Amino acid sequence: MSNSKVKFYSGENIPLELHKTRIVQKLNLVPIERRLEALYEGGFNTFGLKTTDIFLDMLTDSGTNAMSDEQLSSMMRADDAYAGSQSFMRLHQAVKDVLDTKYFLPVHQGRAAENILACAYIKKGSLIPMNYHFTTALAHITEKGGQIAELLYPEAYKIKSSHPFKGNMNIEALEDYIKRHGKERIPYIRMEASTNLIGGQPFSIENFRSVRAIANKYGLRIVLDASLLGENAYLVKQREEEFKNTPLAEIIKIMTGLADLVYFSARKLSSSRGGGICTNNELIYKELEALVPLFEGFLTYGGISIREIEAMAVGLYETQDETVISQSPSFIAYLVNEAEKRGISMVTPPGVLGAHVNAMEICSHIPQTQYPAGAFGAAFFLISGVRGMERGTMSNQRDEYGNETYADMELLRLAVPRRVFTLSQIMYVIDRLTWLKDNRELVGGLKFDYEPPVLRFFMGRLSPVSDWPEKLMAKFREDFGDSL
Ligand code: F0G
Repeated sequence: MSNSKVKFYSGENIPLELHKTRIVQKLNLVPIERRLEALYEGGFNTFGLKTTDIFLDMLTDSGTNAMSDEQLSSMMRADDAYAGSQSFMRLHQAVKDVLDTKYFLPVHQGRAAENILACAYIKKGSLIPMNYHFTTALAHITEKGGQIAELLYPEAYKIKSSHPFKGNMNIEALEDYIKRHGKERIPYIRMEASTNLIGGQPFSIENFRSVRAIANKYGLRIVLDASLLGENAYLVKQREEEFKNTPLAEIIKIMTGLADLVYFSARKLSSSRGGGICTNNELIYKELEALVPLFEGFLTYGGISIREIEAMAVGLYETQDETVISQSPSFIAYLVNEAEKRGISMVTPPGVLGAHVNAMEICSHIPQTQYPAGAFGAAFFLISGVRGMERGTMSNQRDEYGNETYADMELLRLAVPRRVFTLSQIMYVIDRLTWLKDNRELVGGLKFDYEPPVLRFFMGRLSPVSDWPEKLMAKFREDFGDSL
């Protein structure tokens, strides 16, 4: 059952909720004057804000998807044991059933898996070809002296496109890269499901099969980042002719079956906390096993609370359920399509995880040196109370000489965690985005006051280059009167 199967008599394209809400949380919609103070307190970085000042938290879907009644009730029967817990046995069984892999190593979250892979496989001079990087994956690889190569097709870098699979690996470029550098320096090829930083864009199974063929030809391993695998599988079903009648459960298995090693953030994949590394290859398992007790915890909990291990097991089974997995992409598609109709430049086709606003175009008057996506994100929080995440130059790291590396895209990501927001809340987002687009010339740039050397976007503090936030607030009051 998927909400794309429900048609309205009116002909309107409305994504119907296929769940009901029984536990609710009160939100805070504070006056714009308080939000301006909150921005100064938080260093104009949306990571620096507190939820007491936030109305709709669209920072991320990580650890914020709504949990199901089944997940919550499973947490009550958690079997707390350092070693040999029954909860872990249930999780291990879920991994076998859903991801179709025999060996499983639990880790406390996705980046912990990246750390273990980097420790085991990356050394100075290692090269990792991939469809596209994720911030934490890149940080772990470069920290060990490795380098990445992003090998997408040119279509992927076009903000507006009708290509169904912008996350596809450029097969010709991959083969050329392996030939040029030699397979000895390449410990693995990395494929990221629903490529996060280019707008949550999927790759096709056809493409993944071609990557597998190249990997076989040169004797290379494939690592699949499966954090957003459920949604990638859902879009394969929607967009790839061969799989339109294939159950989601089977598509997921086909995809994991094409990789040698699968890792994931359970904060995303199974709407819980935690993470994991899975493989059918005993040698790979042995190469990594000892690192789990060293960094994470014993092999039957990996730093995850036992309650979350139960929720993770149930959540993994639920990734096979289209009712669960279709909700976020269909709300995102609604948001993107309605925003586009109002002239707001968005990444298309709509992807997964969130809607992505093209700040490079909307704020074309702000140079990349002044972080247009970060500035647009701060401005959007100011006028709406909606917190998004900068996915542009601020999220990039400086090169080895300390120079800025300008992002290919300057995006404000508005995450739509699974089954959290209502459609009227999404309509509010569209309304305030439209107002900000119409008043975009009032948004100015940002500069760093404190710039940490690693993953600077998390803890960095910035300030506006002029008094543009005050002017934007004055215009808001002029247009909206005493509205919140
Ligand atoms: N891989 C992908 C594709 C991710 O999106 C993330 C996290 C990770 C790995 C790391 O997992 O957070 O559990 O350590 N993405 C979050 C986001 C942070 O907001 O997109 P983690």
